[in-house]
Amino acid sequence: MKSVRTQVVIIGAGPAGLLLGHLLQREGVDTVILETRSLDYVQQRVRAGVIEYGIANFLEESGVGSRMRAEGLVHHGIEFRLDGVSHRIALSELYDGRTITVYGQQEVVKDLIAGRVVSGAPLHFDATVTGVEGHLMDRPTVSYTSSEGEFQITGDYVVGCDGSHGVSVSSVPSEFLRRFERVYPFSWLGILAEAPPSTEELIYCRHARGFALYSMRSPTLSRLYLGVSPAETLNQWSDERIWDELSTRLATAQAPPIAQGPIVERGITPMRSVVVAPMRYGRLLLAGDAAHIVPPTGAKGMNLALADVRLLAPALVASLRDGDERPLDSYSSDSLRRVWRAEEFSTYMTQMLHPHPSDEFENGVQVARLRQVIDSLDTARALARNYVNLSSL
Ligand code: APR
Ligand code: PHB
Repeated sequence: MKSVRTQVVIIGAGPAGLLLGHLLQREGVDTVILETRSLDYVQQRVRAGVIEYGIANFLEESGVGSRMRAEGLVHHGIEFRLDGVSHRIALSELYDGRTITVYGQQEVVKDLIAGRVVSGAPLHFDATVTGVEGHLMDRPTVSYTSSEGEFQITGDYVVGCDGSHGVSVSSVPSEFLRRFERVYPFSWLGILAEAPPSTEELIYCRHARGFALYSMRSPTLSRLYLGVSPAETLNQWSDERIWDELSTRLATAQAPPIAQGPIVERGITPMRSVVVAPMRYGRLLLAGDAAHIVPPTGAKGMNLALADVRLLAPALVASLRDGDERPLDSYSSDSLRRVWRAEEFSTYMTQMLHPHPSDEFENGVQVARLRQVIDSLDTARALARNYVNLSSL
């Protein structure tokens, strides 16, 4: 077995792992990134698309935001649609002129990979981590396999950025990590369609038939979602049924029917909340989806992942360069404060916009909650702050 040494071993080349690699390399810290999937798969994987104000600024300040600034769609508001009636929430007016940027997660990933390739720092695709050992020793070890054989890498630290099904969390004895979980009685059916967006801003829609979301990626690509029962499978949803359902839920008396086009990507994702705590065990740190999942209604998943590594990178540098352990010691508790806040907001958004199939009391409360956002400036202002910038508050 071949053995290599580095300073920080990063497991996973999603937004968290790639941005961490970039921030550390920039400070002269050696890293190796290991990713089980292929380069093509990671760059094509369609995920979320809303970048918060502070996170967009941070990407730019970190030198990886120029294409996002050039091509990302800057939005000043969102729309809530309640049973066929539109209500605009003027995010920028409510929150000091701040905006969100609509830019696909896989575009962030492409930009980070391009930067990594230019830097020449190691990034191995098709490299599956099989185990982490020695968390409590000076030099933890990561084992991985690739087409070239089996390898071991030792580092001063290992960072698990390996998403919700990764190996990092399972490498920790269960008594040292707590897992908090909530499952929602909905899934999202998401499509990417070659259709010009029929709207300039995102539409979050609560309709008696269920939730719908209208989003976009570019002037020619629309991204739409339907709230469906968790029992549903893709083969129950023909293109025609998807468009009919989207059109019905999103219809208003004024707006023209939504533009349709070829569906180029589709998937069903169950909605859940997960928090793993603490986000550290010895010399293993956790970041992004490896430590927490939010339901997508608040658009927080990618923002939280990037906010974790914004905090973690300087903490690792302080330890490795200056021997100062304090920032690393507070990484987990500082991150978890933000994570729970995002869980709260994502739960709030989810439970305002997804009609319950049978609980009419719950539905009455949901509509009252949404009406409060529409009718009360204070409530709308609080929502705007959380939607636009929660990860940097
Ligand atoms: N070995 C190597 N890589 C692994 C392993 C393993 N054993 N297990 C998982 N991975 C990789 C996955 O293939 C994936 O590319 O880890 C990466 C984790 O990336 P993401 O899932 O994108 O997670 P993260 O970087 O935390 O970003 C969170 O992704 O799911 C969305 O909504 C979520 O927007 C949020 C973002
Ligand atoms: C998306 O564009 O994919 C998107 C937008 C808002 C969300 C979730 C996903 O809340």
